[in-house]
Amino acid sequence: MDVSSLVHSKIKIDMPTGDVEVLVDNVEVLNEASQNLPFSTADLSVPVGHELQMEYRPLYLRKSSTQDIIRLRSKVAMAARNYLETLHGFVDIETPTLFKRTPEGAREFIVPTRSPGKFYALAQSPQQFKQLLMVGGFDRYYQFARCYRDEDMKSDRQPEFTQIDLEMAFVTQEDIITLTEGLVAHIFANVLPSRPQPQIPFPRLTHAKAMETYNSDKPKIGEEEFNFLWVVDFPLFTRCPSTGMLESSHHPFTAPQPDDVTLVSTSPEKVRGLHYDLVCNGVELGGGSIRIHDAVLQEYILSNILKVKDIGVFSHLLKGLRMGCPPHGGIALGFDRLIAILCGGIPLTDTIAFPKAAHGNDLMCKAPSSLPQDVLDMYHIRVKKEDS
Ligand code: AMO
Repeated sequence: MDVSSLVHSKIKIDMPTGDVEVLVDNVEVLNEASQNLPFSTADLSVPVGHELQMEYRPLYLRKSSTQDIIRLRSKVAMAARNYLETLHGFVDIETPTLFKRTPEGAREFIVPTRSPGKFYALAQSPQQFKQLLMVGGFDRYYQFARCYRDEDMKSDRQPEFTQIDLEMAFVTQEDIITLTEGLVAHIFANVLPSRPQPQIPFPRLTHAKAMETYNSDKPKIGEEEFNFLWVVDFPLFTRCPSTGMLESSHHPFTAPQPDDVTLVSTSPEKVRGLHYDLVCNGVELGGGSIRIHDAVLQEYILSNILKVKDIGVFSHLLKGLRMGCPPHGGIALGFDRLIAILCGGIPLTDTIAFPKAAHGNDLMCKAPSSLPQDVLDMYHIRVKKEDS
C-alpha cells in the first residue's frame, strides 16, 4: 500500500480506528464519571502506584496496557485448550476446591462450617483428585484449576492462583515432558507468532548439577528472550533443617526412580524421584511427576518416612490406589506465571484481573475483614481478644 496516499486522505494511520470518521449530531451522556478519578487511563507514561492499582482495579483494567495482558491471557487459555482437548484428546474436568486438610506441602486456607469443630480446607491443587480421576478411567484429564495456598507472599506468588493442570495414565516421564514442550511451543506459535520461538526439546539439567553449578534448582541458563530448561532427578526427600524430619521435595505422591526403590527403606535421602520442573528465565513455571500407584508403597512412605501422624486423612487416596489404579503422571504449569513470562517478566499482579496485594489482602473489597458476632456464633467461632 502507498502510505503517502493515506497521509493525504482523512485516514489517520497512527490510530487503530483511524479509518473510521464519525460525524456527531447529538451526544447523550449515559453516566457521568466522577471528576476526581485517582489516575488517568489514557496517559501510559505516568506510572500508577501499586496500592492505587489495587484499590481502583476497574479503572486500572481500562488502561490499554492492562487490557492487552488480560486479552492475551484469554488467548493463551484458548490455545492451551485447543492443544490439549482438540489435538490430544484431554477431557476438561472440574474438581472440588472445598477439600479437607491433608499434609501435602503448602499451608492451606481453612473454611469453617456450621457443624461445630468441622472445617473444610481449600484445595492447594487438584493433585489427589486428578490421581483419583485416573482410577476413574479418565486417562487424559486437564483443567484450568484454581489453587489456594496460605504461604508467605513473594513477588511470584499469589494466595489464589491458576494452574494448567493435567494428568495421564500409562505414561512415562518422557511422555509428559514431550507433551508439555509441545504445549508451550503451540502457545507461543499461536500467541506470539512474530517473536523468536522457543526451540524444543528444551535442555535438561539434573538437580545435582544445577545445585553444583548454579546453587539453585531454577537457574537462569541462555541469552534468548525465553530460556526454557527442565530440572530432573530431584531427591525424593529432603531433611528439614529445623525439625530434622524428612519431607517430600515435591509432594508425597511422587514415585521413586525404579533403580532407587530398594533405597527407600535403607537410605531414603539417596532416593531420586521421578519429578521434573520446568524453569523459564529463572522462574519455576511448572512441576510434575510420575506418581506412586502402589498403595503399599504409598502407605509406607506416608507412615514410615514422612511420619504422617494420622494416615486416615489419606484414606480416600489409598482406597483409590487399591481399586486397580493404573500407572500415571502429570504436571501443572503456573498459568499466571506463564502470562508474566510471555509479557516479558511483568509482575504477577498485572496478569490477574483482580489480584491480591502484597500481604495477600484485597485492597478493592477490603478483604479479609472481621465478621459480626451473630455470624461468628453461627460458625461456632470465638475470636481471641488479643487477635481481634
Ligand atoms: P507445584 O506446587 O510445583 O505442583 O505447582 C505447580 C506450579 O504452580 C505455580 N504456583 C504458583 N503460582 C502462583 N502463586 C503461587 N502461590 C504458586 N504456587 C505454585 C508454579 C508451580 O510451578 N500438584 C502439583 C503438580 C503435579 O505434580 O502435577 C503442584 O501443584 O508455577
